[in-house]
Amino acid sequence: MTLKRDVKLYTGAEMPLFGLGTWKSEPNKVGNAVKIALDAGYRHIDCAYVYENEKEIGEALKSSSIPRKEIFITSKLWNTFHRPDRVNIAINKTLSDLQLDYLDLYLVHWPFSSSPEEGELFPKNTDGSPKADKTVDFKETWKALEALVEQGKVKHIGISNFNERRIKELLSYAKIRPAVLQVELHPYLPQHDLVDFCKKENIHVTAYSPLGSTFEPRILDNTKLNELAKKYNTDPAHIALAWSMQRGITVIPKSTTEERIRGNFEEIVLEDEDMKIVSSIKERHRFCKLFPVFD
Ligand code: A2P
Repeated sequence: MTLKRDVKLYTGAEMPLFGLGTWKSEPNKVGNAVKIALDAGYRHIDCAYVYENEKEIGEALKSSSIPRKEIFITSKLWNTFHRPDRVNIAINKTLSDLQLDYLDLYLVHWPFSSSPEEGELFPKNTDGSPKADKTVDFKETWKALEALVEQGKVKHIGISNFNERRIKELLSYAKIRPAVLQVELHPYLPQHDLVDFCKKENIHVTAYSPLGSTFEPRILDNTKLNELAKKYNTDPAHIALAWSMQRGITVIPKSTTEERIRGNFEEIVLEDEDMKIVSSIKERHRFCKLFPVFD
């Protein structure tokens, strides 16, 4: 049974609780993955400038006969484009690569501004640490994103990898509130407090790496998830995805494997006691720590 649902954002617009992730989706595979996903029923594709695969995704979107307004498309502003005059450069490149007139959602990818001087996506200090751009006033970055909403280039703006402290700070001056927070979230990083805070603030949460990506230890090897998979006659990935979705969280599992893309879209519903079993997993791992922003 396919039962994929939508959630209402604070604007009243609907966003699917399930989408296709494209982080780490390789060239010559990602376009096909998007085509298979749309054919399987996905109506939400999560993209980002830094994934360097938006052009191929754009070709796949263009070849689809599904009306644009039926597909929810997210992309993200990369760290080296936080200077207000560079926000337009980034969004124009993303829109042009994706061959779209507008995005449904544009997220600030990290609360970390990097200097664009080197022309690299990941500028580094001499000791190898990420190089910050201290000249950026993030208030001005947000203002530039708000202007994109006013110009019709994006329907919603949001944030990614922000913690509660950083969100509170943003809310203190935002004229247009963030509609969505996208963070790493899975049974090894349940983010209970942050999800509760976002619920109160009417900010919808999206889970990236809902299956733990390719990181070790593999979430999908977890004993409890595997026991539940047997009970529901499914695989551990379905248990992890259902657990997030039943918490009201959007999931964007990445796959370029046809069988998994199609299979992941088949929804299962966990009983309350099994939701509790997944929530009782004690192991904790934050896998994605590219930038020092979690203090
Ligand atoms: P693949 O593209 O080879 O299918 P994330 O947690 O970031 O969404 O990443 C999911 C990872 O798990 C990807 O590397 C993906 O690889 C793999 N994957 C996706 N769906 C499944 C599944 N149903 N079972 C096992 N692995 C999966």
